[in-house]
Amino acid sequence: MDKLIITGNGPLRGEVEISGAKNASLPIITAAILASGKSIVRRVPELKDISTMMKLLCNMGAAASSENGSAVIDTSVMNNFEAPYDLVKTMRASVLVLGPLVARYGRAKVSLPGGCAIGARPINMHLSGLEKMGARIELQSGYVLAEADMLKGASIYFDIPTVTGTENLMMAAALAKGTTVLENAAREPEVVDLAECLVKMGARINGAGSSIIEIEGVAELNPIVEHSVIADRIEAGTFMAIAGATGGDLLIKNFSAKHLDAVIMKFMDAGIIFEKEEAGMRVKGPEKLKACDIKTMPYPGFPTDMQAQFMALMARADGTSVISETVFENRFMHVAELRRMGANISIEGGMATVRGAKTLKGAPVMATDLRASASLVVAALCAEGESVLHRIYHLDRGYEKMEDKLKKIGAIVSRAH
Ligand code: EPZ
Repeated sequence: MDKLIITGNGPLRGEVEISGAKNASLPIITAAILASGKSIVRRVPELKDISTMMKLLCNMGAAASSENGSAVIDTSVMNNFEAPYDLVKTMRASVLVLGPLVARYGRAKVSLPGGCAIGARPINMHLSGLEKMGARIELQSGYVLAEADMLKGASIYFDIPTVTGTENLMMAAALAKGTTVLENAAREPEVVDLAECLVKMGARINGAGSSIIEIEGVAELNPIVEHSVIADRIEAGTFMAIAGATGGDLLIKNFSAKHLDAVIMKFMDAGIIFEKEEAGMRVKGPEKLKACDIKTMPYPGFPTDMQAQFMALMARADGTSVISETVFENRFMHVAELRRMGANISIEGGMATVRGAKTLKGAPVMATDLRASASLVVAALCAEGESVLHRIYHLDRGYEKMEDKLKKIGAIVSRAH
């Protein structure tokens, strides 16, 4: 299993190009199922999760390949409507094929994703929404069997604003008969990006980005001719944390700061300086970071996907910060590993109290999930000495060419097998 070896090397300086968003690319790739023909999605990052999704579509009979930064998907011949356990268990976002398959072909057999490191992550809202639209849902030996002669518009209320639940049902509703209203819908920029892509395909969608989305079903959709996914706001946020933690000076390019309002506000409270420039956002870390509290919330609140990286930053801040994780029930797996590096963190339920330490010391640590691994990278870059990050395949799921980007800004990093 690959590992990353990182040696703390003081302030990191230079330019960082942000890649396309993993969590926008995944639903947009599955949206190609809704139309027959060749779709091209640009600025798709080269990531494990993306190749898993492309493999899943090939399994269904599509011709899916990555061609210099674009995903090319031809769905003219789809002959298998199953997402098998061995693929779904490695990437739960595979559940995003459910809505498109039922909407386009009237049937789907998708493995239940099962839990993951950060929580149980049920898909009950995806399934109850499809049932409301007339699908017959049956659970059989770990699989969801879904069938529908013709989905019909429905009013669906989400108890929790689920991101992929909103995306799945928005795609299903695009080809349903009648109008669907999604209430308490997720407002994430990735949901908006998917909606914009669906509209380019001929869908009729209003309200994406707000908590009420209205979709008027149409008879058929056209393939994706020209769509470039938005920048990965979590990757951008991760590099902001790296600038803050190392006291560095990074010019972060090709991302939308407006998608990170809550994160930038909190980084500024911690003393990190932001200067807007022509070519991007310059982010400078202060001599001493100030401790500040965060509470993760659905967008536009502080994103849960930035919680672990922020905690690594607070591990070296002046004072005590309280970090509340309200979205997932087990998203503190990085705490035990940060403690190995000298962080002083205590956990009480969904709340972590971080007492800033003078310095962190390099140590062998283990990545447990995608954003936990990003948190360990942030900590290792500002720690004294060498850290070895084991199970780094977690990082490879969500960060494109991470070592190259880190080396370009002066980090001492190498990959070993
Ligand atoms: C998406 O996951 C992202 N993944 C996650 O990013 C992200 O952390 C999460 O949204 C929250 O922002 C993708 O977009 C591929 P949810 P998703 O449904 O859609 C509960 C990363 O690091 N829930 O918004 O699975 C659920 O358990 C990943 O890139 C139900 O109870 O998250 C959670 O507590 C990690 N029933 C809450 O809602 C359901 O049917 C929010 O989950 C669905 C969700």
